Amino acid sequence: MSDTALPAIVPQPRLLHPSDSALTTSDVATALSEQLTTALAPEAYRLTVTAEGATLAAGSEAGLRNGRATWTQLLDHATTDEDGRTTVPGVVVEDEPRHAWRGLMVDCARYFTPVAELEKLIDALALHRMNRLHLHLTDDQGWRVEIDGWPRLTEVGSTRPRTLAGHHRSAENSGGEPQWTTEPHSGHYTQEELRALVRYGADRGVTLVPEIDLPGHMQAAVAAYPELGNLDQPVRVRETWGISEHVLAPTETAFRFVRDVLTQVVDIFPSEWIHVGGDECPTVEWRSSPVAQEFMAAHGLSTERQIQREFLKVAREVLSAAGRTLVGWDEILEAEPPADAITMLWRRGKDVTDAEQHGLRCVYACSDTLYLDHYQADPEHEPLALGGRSTLEDVYRTQELPAGASQEQRDLLLGVQGQLWREYVPTSEHLEYMLFPRLCALSEVAWGHRTSWEDFRQRLQQHLPRLAARGIGYRQLD
Ligand code: ACM
Repeated sequence: MSDTALPAIVPQPRLLHPSDSALTTSDVATALSEQLTTALAPEAYRLTVTAEGATLAAGSEAGLRNGRATWTQLLDHATTDEDGRTTVPGVVVEDEPRHAWRGLMVDCARYFTPVAELEKLIDALALHRMNRLHLHLTDDQGWRVEIDGWPRLTEVGSTRPRTLAGHHRSAENSGGEPQWTTEPHSGHYTQEELRALVRYGADRGVTLVPEIDLPGHMQAAVAAYPELGNLDQPVRVRETWGISEHVLAPTETAFRFVRDVLTQVVDIFPSEWIHVGGDECPTVEWRSSPVAQEFMAAHGLSTERQIQREFLKVAREVLSAAGRTLVGWDEILEAEPPADAITMLWRRGKDVTDAEQHGLRCVYACSDTLYLDHYQADPEHEPLALGGRSTLEDVYRTQELPAGASQEQRDLLLGVQGQLWREYVPTSEHLEYMLFPRLCALSEVAWGHRTSWEDFRQRLQQHLPRLAARGIGYRQLD
């Protein structure tokens, strides 16, 4: 087999050679023989296909899964003759991921993402040898997870009667009447559904990382339980986008709420990592609330921002007691994060250097290229999006480490993650349009064996039919 006939594998393996012969078999379903070996790192694998057979060796079950994903892609290049005998291209693959954290975040709060859609996404992640699905389960516009003892979170907090139509900035700027959808939007997961989804992911090597965003992005919870908030009058589940000022109040009720919610979340999700948000928390209500001001005086806090630290402490207590690791957006760097926390670097200009100053491990999730809700081309020809621009090539060229990064910095960077915020992504078709093929490019960044943009684009031409065969929608290449 010449080099040009090599099958396209996405993400690109570290080494992919033709072997001296192809495999022909009458039972391709049982053709792969597997073995674990301590000679390979846990996530590494070696796949050999010759006339003698197909063998997969790996350092752990996770490595075997990685190898099976590559085998699955290889089978797309197999041919079957009229006697039912299948010929699989002969290859030798040696592979190991650069990054341990190879993630995608989906915003299930702005638009509820049904379980079947999440299962399909998990399958797509596994096909690309990605291993984390971060679920953004709560936000101002919807609370999506059932919590015992707090029934109104889902009875009230999971429904918004209407949703802003069009871009929120144009509504803010026009001075005219905003336009609204006429349908309410609603949906939540039962704990049983989430436990089943966790198992579905585990069977495919994808860990589900839940996020309860606190103490900001809490308007839906405050709408359900006004006593969690800072105001005397009730608020509604937020119907517009943007950031709400209705955040948790620093009261014993709100701290108990955080404890209750996180205690149940760790019970549902066995993930080592639990995300507690921490981003974009306005302090304006705390400034004018006598209760918050009393709390500050009682705890010797000099700025409202320090109240956020108190919420982080409560969250950390629950997670530490359960043996879990706290994950937060990079704003936690300003709230004296615990030394064992992981931060997700999302704001433009933040990189591992910022995490290193606090000795924290981090995941690169930067809005520069890894916000997959941003436009993928000229907005004039694209469906409405939040803003920004992140083309397929931009994702492919993501620089997750600064030039000249030290070994310490490399060690602190656990990996990369794409974000799919859903304010402007209401349907599953639109979700797939935004994710594919940019997720394919992200998987190449995560595995770290990028060849060249031109080569990647060529391999994608062979890879896109794989997505189509699995019913996954995608944006056509430009
Ligand atoms: C974020 O985009 N607020 C994490």
